[in-house]
Amino acid sequence: MSEWDLKICCMGAGYVGGPTMAVIAAKCPKIRVCVVDLSQKQIDAWNSSDLPIYEPGLPEVVEQCRGKNLFFSTDIDAEIKAADIIFISVNTPTKTMGIGAGRAANIKNCELCARKIAEVAESDKIIVEKSTVPVRTAEAVRRVLECNDKGLKFQVLSNPEFLAEGTAIPDLMKPDRVLIGGVQDEPGLAAAEKLVSVYANWVPRDQIITTNLWSSELSKLVANAFLAQRVSSINSISALCEATGADISEISRAVGKDDRIGKRFLNSSIGFGGSCFQKDILNLVYLCETYGLKECAEYWNQVIVMNDYQKKRFSEKMVSSMFNTVTGKKIAILGYAFKKDTGDVRETPSMFVVRDLVLEQARVHVYDPQVKREDMWTEMEYTVQMSEATHPGLDAAVTTAPDAYTACANAHAFAVLTEWDEFKELDFERIYKSMAKPAFVFDGRNLLDHAKLREIGFEVHAIGKPD
Ligand code: NAD
Ligand code: UGA
Repeated sequence: MSEWDLKICCMGAGYVGGPTMAVIAAKCPKIRVCVVDLSQKQIDAWNSSDLPIYEPGLPEVVEQCRGKNLFFSTDIDAEIKAADIIFISVNTPTKTMGIGAGRAANIKNCELCARKIAEVAESDKIIVEKSTVPVRTAEAVRRVLECNDKGLKFQVLSNPEFLAEGTAIPDLMKPDRVLIGGVQDEPGLAAAEKLVSVYANWVPRDQIITTNLWSSELSKLVANAFLAQRVSSINSISALCEATGADISEISRAVGKDDRIGKRFLNSSIGFGGSCFQKDILNLVYLCETYGLKECAEYWNQVIVMNDYQKKRFSEKMVSSMFNTVTGKKIAILGYAFKKDTGDVRETPSMFVVRDLVLEQARVHVYDPQVKREDMWTEMEYTVQMSEATHPGLDAAVTTAPDAYTACANAHAFAVLTEWDEFKELDFERIYKSMAKPAFVFDGRNLLDHAKLREIGFEVHAIGKPD
């Protein structure tokens, strides 16, 4: 008899696989959970005291379970063989070439996982799609699995993840809902019930929703599309505020008070970033196009168009406010992560602002409490195709500062691009004294006390606010 009630393997030890499995392990001491990855470096980091991702509360949860019922390994074959349930939690980025390039999601990694499982499994298993995928991917996964020549039976479920970075642990501990999609026949329903019983260890049953496979896969794309749409909607109004003298914070408050609208996700910003919003909307747009739904595709694509406009609008405003030139000027960037409480820089809007400033020949000094310089460069090369090789002098044009004061010293301007709490507590008198005059502030998150900054002497420009 095994000492475990159930064995879970998760393929992919990233932002989703790591925290999700750590919480399952913490909530289910009788379940053995192992997270596997192709990357030895990633697994070594999960097994160290310096975890590969920054997420508040995560080290404590990992510490509590690691070596007891939570393991991280590169021995993928052995863990597949041992598992009853296998989660696929690998990256599904936007395709960069071929059919659907720039829009369709690349599900290559999911297919590779399915092929690996078919190749090495020696017993029947439940396969759970945790990755965000185009609707009907489960069908592809099922067909690949069925090609095994051992007569094994696999049930494929969809169980998309809704955690947000920076709040992953509370989101996982107390999810709004857990969504499980499966085939609506007896074995499919039994597999779904098995996964329900895992989550039921800590999530109330009425918050665990079961649906058919396609509804589950599509709900994930729709949830992200709706959230991103709110950000683009409020950002579009921020431009109108700047033109008319209305104040975007007052509008968010007044509009959000309506229960039918709700107050969350109405913070105007320099645009949304992160690895998923743009990818998932593009995925939705591509799906609509594939099914011949041109008007639906155009409708959702507009969320991206507005987001690109907002990012561009911000850097253009910086340049025009500073007498139409930033050439040779030092500009401090406070915050580079795509939101606070994460070190993740994938698709971060800060990168687009930095790119625009560098192209205007500014000297950019970036301070972010969690972002590593190497990650900044990797993302720049991947997403905006900018590197020392393509833009000689780039490395020297962008300095990473050890703190906000160093970044701002002798600068002509500072811009707040990530809403880190610590920026609210800075000594702005000290910063003002150290800066070139006139000293400009561009608040891309409406984080700071603008009246106080103006009193000190700063010239303040903020999103959706009168100048
Ligand atoms: P990630 O890039 O952080 O991690 C993916 C991991 O999978 C990497 O470590 C990679 O090495 C590994 N991997 C790739 N192919 C593999 C294979 N064949 N076998 C084993 N390991 C393999 O990605 P992520 O941010 O964790 O996202 C994973 C999925 O979850 C994506 O589909 C994403 O859209 C979705 N999602 C992400 C978030 C988020 O906040 N990041 C939230 C909800 C859903
Ligand atoms: C988002 C969703 O919130 C999660 O539910 C989902 O699981 C996840 O995507 C995913 O599929 O990857 P995440 O991208 O981690 O989570 O973070 P969000 O809090 O949604 O923020 C996304 C972006 O929108 C950030 O750049 C943030 O600054 C921006 N944002 C958010 C605004 O500009 N204004 C707001 O009011 C809210």
